[in-house]
Amino acid sequence: MILNHTIEALLDRRAVRAYRPEQISEEELTDILLAAKFAPSAMGMQARHFTVVQNKQLISDIVSVAVEDGAKFVPGHVPFYNAPTVIVLSAPESAKYNREDCACAILNIMLAAQAYGLGSCYICSVNDGLRDERIAKRLKLPDHYIPFGCVSVGYPSENAPAPKERRTDDISYVR
Ligand SMILES: Cc1cc2nc3c(=O)[nH]c(=O)nc-3n(C[C@H](O)[C@H](O)[C@H](O)COP(=O)(O)O)c2cc1C
Repeated sequence: MILNHTIEALLDRRAVRAYRPEQISEEELTDILLAAKFAPSAMGMQARHFTVVQNKQLISDIVSVAVEDGAKFVPGHVPFYNAPTVIVLSAPESAKYNREDCACAILNIMLAAQAYGLGSCYICSVNDGLRDERIAKRLKLPDHYIPFGCVSVGYPSENAPAPKERRTDDISYVR
């Protein structure tokens, strides 16, 4: 296998679920968002929006509303893992590839965060909370955009566990 920095980064990225309390720097945030903007998007329309949430009350309210709306978490589970930054991805409700556009941008965010020694975790467990009108109106979404997921970002406070063994039955060749 030919290893280079990009491949190494892809193999090394892990979901980080424990964060230090201090906020990420503005420079890191700016660069992460720039990387996110360069993610592929359907027809190059860039039809996705980034809402950077660094307000503890809003982060906590997202979880409370998600629970009110039926999200079930095991006792003690903190869905955002106390991350100081959460970036919510939204896209037009009517766009055919809205979910895909958001997912591509989230992956760029996670890889850019990793490049700066930050941790991140893709989080969909609170999507119902994000979409609830009480939260959606506080997220400054463009008109007719709905959230498709979010990503926590912060300085890791512990090492992520080793990756699971990779499956060996998930590649087919048609040649
Ligand atoms: C679409 C999607 C939704 C996810 N939602 C959550 C989530 O709500 N909470 C969470 O802790 N991790 C979530 N994850 C992270 C996965 O659990 C994680 O990527 C997986 O366990 C593999 O670990 P790794 O990222 O370290 O390789 C999500 C990942 C994806 C792709």
